Amino acid sequence: MTSTAMTSTAGPRPRVAVAYHSGRGHTAALAAAVADGARQAGAEVTALAVDGMTDHQWAVLDDADAIVFGTPTYMGNVSAGFQTFAERTSRRCHTGAWRDKVAAGFTNSGAKSGDKLQALVSLVVLAAQHHMHWVSLGLGPGWNSTTGSEDDLNRLGFFLGAGAQSDTDVAADRVHRADVRTCQLLGARVAGVTAQLLAGRTATQRLAPAGS
Ligand SMILES: Cc1cc2nc3c(=O)[nH]c(=O)nc-3n(C[C@H](O)[C@H](O)[C@H](O)COP(=O)(O)O)c2cc1C
Repeated sequence: MTSTAMTSTAGPRPRVAVAYHSGRGHTAALAAAVADGARQAGAEVTALAVDGMTDHQWAVLDDADAIVFGTPTYMGNVSAGFQTFAERTSRRCHTGAWRDKVAAGFTNSGAKSGDKLQALVSLVVLAAQHHMHWVSLGLGPGWNSTTGSEDDLNRLGFFLGAGAQSDTDVAADRVHRADVRTCQLLGARVAGVTAQLLAGRTATQRLAPAGS
């Protein structure tokens, strides 16, 4: 367990939202893994599909301390379903509603590469446009030596976020185990970093001189 993976019981409990689009369920399964990891690390977690957002779901995102964005890679970028959601956040962009929340992301493609780096970059840009703090994956690359295997964590060697791959002919409940574990660790890392940020904010407010 890394130093950021377990939240302190003393500080505020971070609220983590996982906002994902999934056409055929594979990305949804990975969203569940991210949520699972964040929950195990002590966060209060809500996972929500971004197509058909309700007022309540928007409120969940507005109240969250951290949002993890997830999308399948479609045509070398985020899916149209995810991009529709991203465009619907533009008013929040202008008002700064998500400023200083923590952000992270994951994507899932059919090919081992499938040009999915571009999808992760689009998620980073979305977070930056909202003035959010992007959290990287935090795992070294796996499956990159003669002793490595496809069961390694971060088997596809991404740094910006979690990059998963689902064979195009497997059912959504059979996403790769290494990708599930990698996404769980991303969720745990986001929960840990968010807890640290919240504790730091509390501490610096305490230190601020009266009237400042
Ligand atoms: C419209 C469309 C475009 C796709 N484009 C890519 C692509 O550019 N690269 C890739 O590796 N896979 C691509 N795929 C495959 C999906 O990324 C893959 O099947 C993924 O597991 C789908 O996730 P989902 O079940 O959450 O929708 C595409 C699939 C669709 C339907």
